[in-house]
Amino acid sequence: MPGRIPQSFINDLIERVDIVEVIDSRISLKRTGKNLQALCPFHEEKTPSFSVNPEKQFYYCFGCGATGTSLRFLMEYERLEFVEAIETLARIAGVEIPREAGVQKQVDTDLYEILSLADHYYRSVIRDHGLSGNAVEYLKERGVTGVIARDFGIGFAPAAWDGLKSALAQFPENKLVDAGLLVRNDAGRVYDRFRERITFPIRDTRGRVVGFGGRVLGDEKPKYLNSPETEVFQKSRELYGLFEARRALRELPRLLVVEGYMDVVALAQHGVPNVVATLGTASSQAHFEKLFRYTREVVCCFDGDSAGRTAAWKALSSAFPVLHEGRQLRFMFVAEGDDPDTLIRSEGEAKFNQLVEASVSAGDYFFKEIGSGLDLSSIDARARLADAALPLIEKLPDGLYRRMMVERLSQEAKISIAAIEKRVGISFRARPSQSTTAPPESKIARKLMSYLLHEPTVAKDLSQETRDELFASDNDTLVAEMLRRVLEKNLTDTGTLLASFVGEPAHQLMVELASTPPSLVGTALENEFVDGVHRFLEERTRDAHRALARGLQEDDSSERLAVYWKARSETDSGNVSEAT
Ligand code: UTP
Ligand code: MN
Repeated sequence: MPGRIPQSFINDLIERVDIVEVIDSRISLKRTGKNLQALCPFHEEKTPSFSVNPEKQFYYCFGCGATGTSLRFLMEYERLEFVEAIETLARIAGVEIPREAGVQKQVDTDLYEILSLADHYYRSVIRDHGLSGNAVEYLKERGVTGVIARDFGIGFAPAAWDGLKSALAQFPENKLVDAGLLVRNDAGRVYDRFRERITFPIRDTRGRVVGFGGRVLGDEKPKYLNSPETEVFQKSRELYGLFEARRALRELPRLLVVEGYMDVVALAQHGVPNVVATLGTASSQAHFEKLFRYTREVVCCFDGDSAGRTAAWKALSSAFPVLHEGRQLRFMFVAEGDDPDTLIRSEGEAKFNQLVEASVSAGDYFFKEIGSGLDLSSIDARARLADAALPLIEKLPDGLYRRMMVERLSQEAKISIAAIEKRVGISFRARPSQSTTAPPESKIARKLMSYLLHEPTVAKDLSQETRDELFASDNDTLVAEMLRRVLEKNLTDTGTLLASFVGEPAHQLMVELASTPPSLVGTALENEFVDGVHRFLEERTRDAHRALARGLQEDDSSERLAVYWKARSETDSGNVSEAT
């Protein structure tokens, strides 16, 4: 990995590049008053609810809640990875990206170069009759056309121990070992990893070759050999065919996940190019995070045997934590003895697509699997159903989908929703790791948050004492969390601050606040903010006292009385005079 990009550079970059320029050159914006509007590119709509605020440099959509800075826009709209989006912004700004020196090693650009040359080499070998052996016949026999072989860069590693090794002799052996192309055995001998195998280059989303898969021509074992993990290749992140799918289709409303290289190639050849495969590993959460960056619907297509079902269940649990609203996961199973490759060859595209359409939703699949073998007329079985379901449902991000699953569990297991929620405790409503949004924010808190969001720099006006007091409180407040982000993470513009809440429970509130600018500006706003913070702290002290007093009515043990009186006397000697 290259060194980290300094956060300060990213902040500067976002400030330097005008969001209007970035968005307007991609979707056309119309001016309406202070803001600019367009049809939202992130959901279907007839009247524009997508709005760009040039002053605060962020966008938001009243329809679907999409929001963020120019950086997030590029990531979402162009489906770029974080670093790619920064590169795009840097290009627009005409600046170089600095990298922090330090812990992380600089990626050897050499590795990419070596892998690219290896790719050329394997592809030249398959065209060379003297070296390609039966490779071409093998592919023809499997029905792979020349066009698709070219699109996927299919090649051949010759039978020799030193085919690639001699072809890339200009590089040090160690580098070729680091790239995963040569193997060093215990005796220290170094030789080609891929020998007499059809090669499938694995490309990252930018099209750079990061590794290879190699298949034998006959029945030898192992059937497939994959590159080992290297500095540029991590199996739990890479997806075979993603680059090719994106190249083939501008829009990817749906992506299929299959098990094998040949499944991807055969489906693409038969008119289904929106397919990827994991690389001989189970599908991971990182895989699904990546998939859902490019599509809203993922259909996992596995073999109908027990291995396929195990893989499907694993996929379901990896995907659950990233099943945010609007994302869909479905499953289809291919009959035993078939796989997507043989299926599409025998049944054709239309039939295959019908099967995809008929795939089951993650919810149906989930309840079918956990309910299998249970006779739900018995109370015991229903309790076991709930036991099996809850740990997984808890993994789902808070939102509509999770609520639907809870409702469904309540129906299937005939347990009330209240009982289910009680069973899993409060963690079900609000995730403890995140700042609390559970109690509704008071009027004053909302005002402070609005000021902070629209003018983050006002945070700097608070005295150290006040900051300490805000941060000291045991039960954390959202106001304090925002301050922390402004002061400690240095998120000093509206867009970045807003974007930092994406995916958190408080996000909706932030979008709401962002859409109504405060009526004050300048020093008036600053004064009102500092003043408000003091009132906020007083309000919290009062609330704490009330809570204590309420506790006392129920249980007036002397210990609690002492706590209460101690708290009161401390405040009374301070500047708060009217504590309850
Ligand atoms: P399968 O055994 O299902 O093979 O492996 P396949 O894809 O149908 O292969 P063909 O049709 O006989 O060519 C599925 C995937 O599992 C990984 C590979 O990624 C393969 O594409 N695999 C399989 C290995 O990594 N090593 C193996 O030995 C076998
Ligand atoms: Mn197969």
